[in-house]
Amino acid sequence: MKKKIALITGITGQDGSYLARLLIKKNYLVHGIIRRSSSFNTGRLEDIYEDPFKKNKKLILHYGDLTDFSSINSIIAKIKPNEIYNLAAQSHVAVSFKTPEYTTNVNALGTLRILESILHNNLLNTKFYQASTSELFGNPEYKTQNENTPFYTKSPYGTSKLFAYWITKNYRESYGIFASNGILFNHESPFRGETFVTKKITRAISRIFFNKQKYLYIGNLNSKRDWGHAKDYVHFQWKILQQRKPMDVVISTNRQFSVRQFIEECCKFVGWKIKWSGRGLNEIGKINYEGKEKTIVKVSKKYLRPNELEALKGKSIHTNKTFKFKLKYSFKDLVKDMMEYDLKHNK
Ligand code: NAP
Ligand code: GDD
Repeated sequence: MKKKIALITGITGQDGSYLARLLIKKNYLVHGIIRRSSSFNTGRLEDIYEDPFKKNKKLILHYGDLTDFSSINSIIAKIKPNEIYNLAAQSHVAVSFKTPEYTTNVNALGTLRILESILHNNLLNTKFYQASTSELFGNPEYKTQNENTPFYTKSPYGTSKLFAYWITKNYRESYGIFASNGILFNHESPFRGETFVTKKITRAISRIFFNKQKYLYIGNLNSKRDWGHAKDYVHFQWKILQQRKPMDVVISTNRQFSVRQFIEECCKFVGWKIKWSGRGLNEIGKINYEGKEKTIVKVSKKYLRPNELEALKGKSIHTNKTFKFKLKYSFKDLVKDMMEYDLKHNK
């Protein structure tokens, strides 16, 4: 049987690297778009990276950029993928306040460029997955969010993804393209970018443990998220494109923890109990270290956002029925996986 061909944008990122592994396992020929950078940016793909001169490759990388229609269009026209997973994005919410125009160009117009390319190459059988996000929600009135919850974006990132969500739906309804939105809640892993809060915490606690760093400087300790594991979630990205019909679907754990609880759980992993004192910007976290109190967490204004999405928790109206929705990783398993990796790599 002919191999299915998948194209992943954002293949060098957290999700892209896990999805590439999953699709290779499922016997796909995987193409990925990478950006030119001044140093290697394929670190997360190390174990599946293949020599460009090798024959019968399972993974083929192409230079391209979502801000450059000609690059995207020529790759799509050449490889004619059966499935496109659009994971590329300027994905950092806080950074989107500093680079709003760029964020919009990549996340919003980038998505449109891919859809236009599908249309212009007449690839109407190509399935398209859009990496939508729980950042689309944000109204505190709705304690749990599902596919019917009204959107209320709170950042340039969220708003750029709102456009991408709707344009995906528009092209599905207008041209019959199999185009689906996976509305994924936060998902993390050892491969998470170092400036997202979970990885920042697991890395810092590990480094403090080995006396390589003194403090973890943090922003909003009370913010709550519904954190899953990226390994679990890429499976659903694939599954969404295997449905009979295109759809928009929430993927989440329906459990919620605060940034503070995440820090406490990581400390527990290395045998520390953290004690909090002070308020607001003066709040600190202390541990008992060799018989003395030692401050290891400080709050910094630098990490507060101009607008904050205080709490997220998702529960799909579809998943139980449609996906036999089962997650391998609990919150504790996620912390364990990330802490074990960071303790090993920061020793
Ligand atoms: P990530 O680790 O930040 O990866 C983003 C990827 O996009 C990287 O490969 C990056 O390349 C690439 N990229 C950025 N700008 C690009 C451009 N102009 N052209 C081409 N590629 C570009 O993000 P992630 O956590 O894997 O998330 C994957 C997708 O899901 C993103 O769209 C994100 O917004 C969305 N999402 C994520 C979560 C989550 O909790 N992780 C939840 C909901 C939705 P470099 O490696 O060169 O930087
Ligand atoms: N990054 C960061 N750094 N966040 C902090 C910090 C800090 O030092 N201190 C507190 N936080 C809080 C943020 O204010 C936010 O409320 C929460 O921790 C989570 O922040 P991030 O890990 O940066 O993730 P995010 O929720 O803003 O965005 C991620 O999830 C979205 C899905 O809801 C990203 O992966 C987005 O791409 C994704 O769409």
